[in-house]
Amino acid sequence: MSVHKEAKRITTHTLREMKRQGEKITMLTGYDYSMARILDASGIDVILVGDSASNVMAGHETTLPITLDQMIYHASSVVRAVQKALVVVDLPFGSYQGNSKVALESAIRIMKESGAHAVKVEGGSVIQESIKRILSAGVPVMGHLGLTPQSIYKFGTYTVRARQEEEAQQLMEDAALLDELGCFALVLEKIPAELAGEISRSIDIPTIGIGGGSQTDGQVLVTHDLLGLTKDFHPRFLRRYLELFDTIKDAMQEYIVDVRRGDFPNQNEQY
Ligand code: KIV
Repeated sequence: MSVHKEAKRITTHTLREMKRQGEKITMLTGYDYSMARILDASGIDVILVGDSASNVMAGHETTLPITLDQMIYHASSVVRAVQKALVVVDLPFGSYQGNSKVALESAIRIMKESGAHAVKVEGGSVIQESIKRILSAGVPVMGHLGLTPQSIYKFGTYTVRARQEEEAQQLMEDAALLDELGCFALVLEKIPAELAGEISRSIDIPTIGIGGGSQTDGQVLVTHDLLGLTKDFHPRFLRRYLELFDTIKDAMQEYIVDVRRGDFPNQNEQY
């Protein structure tokens, strides 16, 4: 008999229970095997394979260019590293809006080809047919409201959303709809803290905020921002825990100096 005890996996049910118990949910983005190993070892609850990969991994200005194939590549790399965290994958722009059959096919490809546990979509009532169809196939769906980066060209800017009563009301209605449809959690991005708190108290599913203040049921950040790997991004909501861009650059410069002056490799570093 094996004495090896497997780490208890986080599931969508775990998150709901955490909300019930008033326990905060932690989520960070991950896009590759090595970082996902560290994320999982840290005890993070959820790893989001975000379409922010388009920005931080591929260098695009927006999240729009990343493809379904590329998301599957990132997601499968993450899944291979993870033993405990719930892995949620963004359906990329163009893979689920407008046609629920296409949405279902995209979600099924993500689940089948990457082995991830759930998908995330941006938007409320306008994409409800897609959400219903994905859910009907047994694929868990996380919603995303407020600032939805896939619609950046409609918004025009990355400023705080739903400051006006009408947009706030629409957001409340969309949040209630996503809860009713059966989404398991909801990301609230860059909206006033009071509104995020009100929504979090009014729906049963957990809310996970980014720039939504402290009253949401959990928090998410882009890992590269938290670690200071990105340099020129300073929104008010971001807390940087490291300045890895400079730390890594310093290490690389030390290596360059060592090689150039013949210090690397030394006697012990050769055969
Ligand atoms: O793609 C992403 O990283 C996200 C988070 C910012 C929530 O959607």
